[in-house]
Amino acid sequence: MTSAIQAHGLAKRFGETAALTSVDLDVEAGTVLGLLGPNGAGKTTVVRVLATLLRPDAGQAFVHGHDVVRSPDRVREVIGLTGQFAAVDDSLTGVENLLFLGRLLGRSRADSRGTALNLLGRFGLSDAADRPAKTYSGGMRRRLDLAACLVGEPQVIFLDEPTTGLDPNARDQLWEIIRGEVRRGVTVLLTTQYLEEADRLADDIVVIDHGSVVAQGTPQTLKREVGRPTLQVRPLDGAELARVAALVTEVIGEHTIDGRLVKARVRDTAALSTVVRRLDEAGIEVAELSIREPSLDEVFKQLTVTGAPV
Ligand SMILES: Nc1ncnc2c1ncn2[C@@H]1O[C@H](COP(=O)(O)OP(=O)(O)O)[C@@H](O)[C@H]1O
Ligand SMILES: [Mg+2]
Repeated sequence: MTSAIQAHGLAKRFGETAALTSVDLDVEAGTVLGLLGPNGAGKTTVVRVLATLLRPDAGQAFVHGHDVVRSPDRVREVIGLTGQFAAVDDSLTGVENLLFLGRLLGRSRADSRGTALNLLGRFGLSDAADRPAKTYSGGMRRRLDLAACLVGEPQVIFLDEPTTGLDPNARDQLWEIIRGEVRRGVTVLLTTQYLEEADRLADDIVVIDHGSVVAQGTPQTLKREVGRPTLQVRPLDGAELARVAALVTEVIGEHTIDGRLVKARVRDTAALSTVVRRLDEAGIEVAELSIREPSLDEVFKQLTVTGAPV
């Protein structure tokens, strides 16, 4: 695998606050890493270090092999940044903003204009191209931010909470645009407080809390390794609930009753066939028997509230 971003032991303090204690990351080129964590977890600090805006107290980080501390200029050549760092000027129109950024990068006027119009078209902003950015809706504004970050044709982009505060429609549009950029080969590091966003967009997820990594993996492995699936049994006859509960406890060692369901968190999915066999032997008919994977929400809450695996 080719790493687009690597970080080892990143640490950063702000006075008394340890914003990052020891963060390791490895992001494969052309993939999306979801850096997930609650408010104050250290997400923006990670992005600022990787984007050469903040010097870490300890640790090292490389973007496309360039050291963020020793070769910040080389890093800046390959990255794009948006989110809490938006470079868009409210008083300029959409096209003026992008044109201006192109000129700042040393492009010709014609070239900058071509890039600006192309980006506005790709992001559904052609109709608003000549309106000042301050008249844009929240969703349009975020799309313009993203377009601004792409003017320099970066290979790696940092999106810091790109959809926070957007309505579901605007969020879906932005997700689609981000997926489009990934298809074009761009590597994305996306910070988010939303599990759903990480689940939908990210190939890999790193969960951070209080400045350290508390879990990482694909959305699937996180659910599997960190959370245990739940067995749910609903007897056809509600009067059998207590017998089912006793039987489930014998096999799995625990049960809870939720309405007409008996539930138990399973360590070993082989227990499922044992439960089925025992129910059959006991002559209990079931209306429903299922294994439910934990939602990422449950996993995330558990990890960031208690810091302990589910
Ligand atoms: N410039 C700063 N000065 C002091 N404290 C800061 C500064 N930047 C971040 N912090 C603190 O560091 C911690 C991590 O912040 P941040 O990286 O912004 O978290 P997130 O982006 O996950 O919400 C928080 O406790 C925050 O208050
Ligand atoms: Mg932040």
